[in-house]
Amino acid sequence: MLESMAGLKRSHYCAEVNESFLGQEVTLMGWVQHRRDHGGLVFIDLRDRTGLVQTVFNPQEDPLTHEKSHDVRAEYVLALRGRVRRRPDDMVNQKLATGQVEVFIRELRVLNVAQTPPFLIEDHADVTEAVRLKRRYLDLRRPMVLKNFVLRHNLARLTRDYFAENGFLEVETPVLTKSTPEGARDFLVPSRLNPGDFYALPQSPQLFKQLLMISGLDRYCQIVKCFRDEDLRADRQPEFTQVDLEMAFVSQEEIMAVLEGYVKRVFQEILGVELTLPLPRLTYAEATTKYGIDRPDLRYDLEIVDVTEILSHSHAQVFAEAIRSQGVIRVIRAPLAARFSRKQLDDLVALAIKLGAKGLAWIRLSAEGWQGPLVKFLTDAEKEALTTTLNADKGDVLFFGADDPAIVAQVLGQIRVRLAQDLDLIPQGVYKLVWVTDFPLFEYDLENKRWAAKHHPFTAPFDEDLPLLDKNPPAVRAQAYDLVLNGHEIGGGSIRVHQPELQAQIFSVLGLDQEEVQEKFGFFLEALSYGAPPHGGCAFGLDRLAMLLAGASSLRDVIAFPKTQKAACPLTEAPSPVRARQLLELGLSLIAKS
Ligand code: AMO
Ligand code: AMP
Repeated sequence: MLESMAGLKRSHYCAEVNESFLGQEVTLMGWVQHRRDHGGLVFIDLRDRTGLVQTVFNPQEDPLTHEKSHDVRAEYVLALRGRVRRRPDDMVNQKLATGQVEVFIRELRVLNVAQTPPFLIEDHADVTEAVRLKRRYLDLRRPMVLKNFVLRHNLARLTRDYFAENGFLEVETPVLTKSTPEGARDFLVPSRLNPGDFYALPQSPQLFKQLLMISGLDRYCQIVKCFRDEDLRADRQPEFTQVDLEMAFVSQEEIMAVLEGYVKRVFQEILGVELTLPLPRLTYAEATTKYGIDRPDLRYDLEIVDVTEILSHSHAQVFAEAIRSQGVIRVIRAPLAARFSRKQLDDLVALAIKLGAKGLAWIRLSAEGWQGPLVKFLTDAEKEALTTTLNADKGDVLFFGADDPAIVAQVLGQIRVRLAQDLDLIPQGVYKLVWVTDFPLFEYDLENKRWAAKHHPFTAPFDEDLPLLDKNPPAVRAQAYDLVLNGHEIGGGSIRVHQPELQAQIFSVLGLDQEEVQEKFGFFLEALSYGAPPHGGCAFGLDRLAMLLAGASSLRDVIAFPKTQKAACPLTEAPSPVRARQLLELGLSLIAKS
């Protein structure tokens, strides 16, 4: 029989009840974690968002309430009123915040019953992610799961505070809009009132925040949902949240200083960690040469070293071939990897080949000397030079990549990450932030055989590289900067193009014809022509930041209702088919599913 709350008011959260309440009466509301019947006494652990408290039903003190407690089951919703007492010494639970006390109950009301949940509502429940996400509302009852959302809330709150204190105005930008290119596919929304026309959900508010600078808003920020239809990974969701900001009349250095102030505050308030400013920087060229990637994880060394010079006359076919085709030879020295089994080495070679390498030559520096497929081709002088340059020692393994520089970087970059995992070199609880700057403005899009914007097409080139725009696009550097934390890109931004002529020139390098430019960006070019101030900004990935601060390994752990790898929501079963009538209203018809 269900009862109402009428006349009862919650006095405290469960985990607030401690020794300072001894002798007092409290009224608690929450869910039944656990009921234990110890012959006479019945114990119910009551849980709310703060945690647990033990309550006791004593047949001697209150026979009716005790009787009622027998019908209670796990996850029933209760209101309990009772008096706080100290637990007997041998019953104290040091693991619980409320472990010194228990509440002797005088009144119990069953506010609701519950089905038996499909998994235990406990931190270490043995349950698959699919089941958790299908019943996410139950999953979120687990304190371990919930705690990430408390962190995320604190992060969002301090974000608002920090930017407001620094003169930023929060402005909301539209969700039903036109395509804003950020390198992914758009999610489209059909328009009923304009049959055959579509809105695009924003990949970012990029164009709107630039329009706000043209409006003279000066400093804008927004915590905003963005939508990108791209292949999903652990650190990529189709809808995600950015901390988006833009500033007028500023240099790259000024923007970076504001952003550094922000991350310093984040680390201070969320983790109690003091960052030293300014943060270290690497150029794109340095990052990709040394670490093989533009978002290096600097929690471990394993630098990639160029040894093209040393091996420029090598008799090893693999190296000679690379030299002949103007390639490079680079090495990672992996300390203590000599203990790797042959299978581990073979797996690394297989990984390199999967990543596009022709192979992964290795040399093991064992106590018996140098071993490996190419050792017989090395001269003593080459060995000597390698030893000195790499600071190599017994126990190391050297892994070689010999090919086109881009391939070597990409392959050794991934091999580096894998080696760090295999050698257990990644420390936990360590945070390595680094700016990556001086990106190329363009990258070649092999699929479409044309230049594409490395960031987005509104990024400004270096002034001194302007003459190269038409002549040598790959050599043009961008006034762009990414902030990287432990190998994840947590933020990125740039100084923008603020002159319509330059913007039009960049569109032209990107292969957009006049008509396409007008159709897609006409409104924006026009706006630029009405006195756009010099401006720039950045966007942080709030979910990624929350994930890394929470020590989680997937964005799903910091998004309340996340999507799966297939961009689906297991709880609501979105996306789902719609009625024929709805399609008709929208002027749409479906091609049969293949
Ligand atoms: P960018 O595309 O680099 O820049 O995005 C900014 C930050 O957003 C996060 N992010 C994502 N997080 C989760 N899932 C995704 N699918 C996803 N995609 C991006 C990353 C990234 O660093 N308008 C520009 C910013 C600017 O120039 O001001 C932009 O959107 O952490
Ligand atoms: P092969 O001469 O093809 O039998 O290769 C000899 C060794 O060099 C093997 O260990 C290969 O994995 C490795 N190897 C082959 N091509 C390359 C390359 N381009 N870069 C680095 N190692 C390579």
